[in-house]
Amino acid sequence: MIDFRPFYQQIATTNLSAWLETLPAQLKQWEKTTHGDYAKWAKIADFMPNSTACINLKDKVESIPTEPLSAGEQQRIVHHLKQLMPWRKGPYHLHGIHIDTEWRSDFKWDRVLPHLAPLKDRTILDVGCGSGYHMWRMVGEGAKMVVGIDPTELFLCQFEVVRKLLGNDRRANLIPLGIEEMQPLAAFDTVFSMGVLYHRKSPLDHLSQLKAQLVKGGELVLETLVIDGDVNDVLVPADRYAKMKNVYFIPSVPALINWLEKVGFKNVRCVEQAITTLEEQRKTDWLENESLVDFLDPNDHSKTIEGLPAPKRAVILANS
Ligand SMILES: C[S@@+](CC[C@H](N)C(=O)[O-])C[C@H]1O[C@@H](n2cnc3c(N)ncnc32)[C@H](O)[C@@H]1O
Repeated sequence: MIDFRPFYQQIATTNLSAWLETLPAQLKQWEKTTHGDYAKWAKIADFMPNSTACINLKDKVESIPTEPLSAGEQQRIVHHLKQLMPWRKGPYHLHGIHIDTEWRSDFKWDRVLPHLAPLKDRTILDVGCGSGYHMWRMVGEGAKMVVGIDPTELFLCQFEVVRKLLGNDRRANLIPLGIEEMQPLAAFDTVFSMGVLYHRKSPLDHLSQLKAQLVKGGELVLETLVIDGDVNDVLVPADRYAKMKNVYFIPSVPALINWLEKVGFKNVRCVEQAITTLEEQRKTDWLENESLVDFLDPNDHSKTIEGLPAPKRAVILANS
């Protein structure tokens, strides 16, 4: 089972220490209600080698073991990693194994990073961090501490496996809770929410919850699906969006800026917009499920299979 005690010790002497009032009890409760496969997934990190490795987090997420692994040992690791499919966010290059994930999350990072206040020495929260790909890239930018929060237990186990192959690096940690369960800490210099807003039933509450985690003047990095339109345009899919059941609100950029200002963010600006391409989200050997090409109208890629506008994403920055 995954041990959160090193994280508690790590934050005890930082400005996240107030979290210790609620977090240990919440995670104790969480342990009682985990997914049926959690114990099996959590054990997979134990099968990863303890060998020392050279780590590169600056332009990719990569570990190169000081002693090269044999072909047999590599095959054994791949076998275990495949038990944690689907691998959605990445890619990872670990001990000579390329985990070619469904998403080229590095494309998103390349769109976002140039616009940010420098991450060096910052304490960062990544809400909805998935398997943690972007967290490692934040560490690569010199962040002091990175905390990810994501309720999906498979992603927690993928994160722990990657951490092990990165030499048990503790500069990033993943806490398996939803943002709405998190005590307001007002302690993070930068808060990321990427690919989460449209999954929330109450988007303004989500924005307020993000603000409650930021220090005064801290930076919010919000990345989400948008539609074209003016301040009054918001898409609320009647049923599915790109085959997803859990998509609730897709605003236009002006509507999103209005929401952020309504909950008290300042200096709100859109710095980037991009249509999701078939190079960024595609089927690989690391997932059995369908991918973007199956979610689009086969005769018109500007529409989803439901006839709605195809995925377009914006990056919005704001200060608390
Ligand atoms: C589309 S993925 C985005 C992953 C990553 N941030 C990225 O941009 O590639 C959405 C993530 O949000 C997580 N999530 C869903 N509900 C959440 C909540 N209430 N609080 C935090 N994360 C949540 C999901 O488990 C999933 O990993």
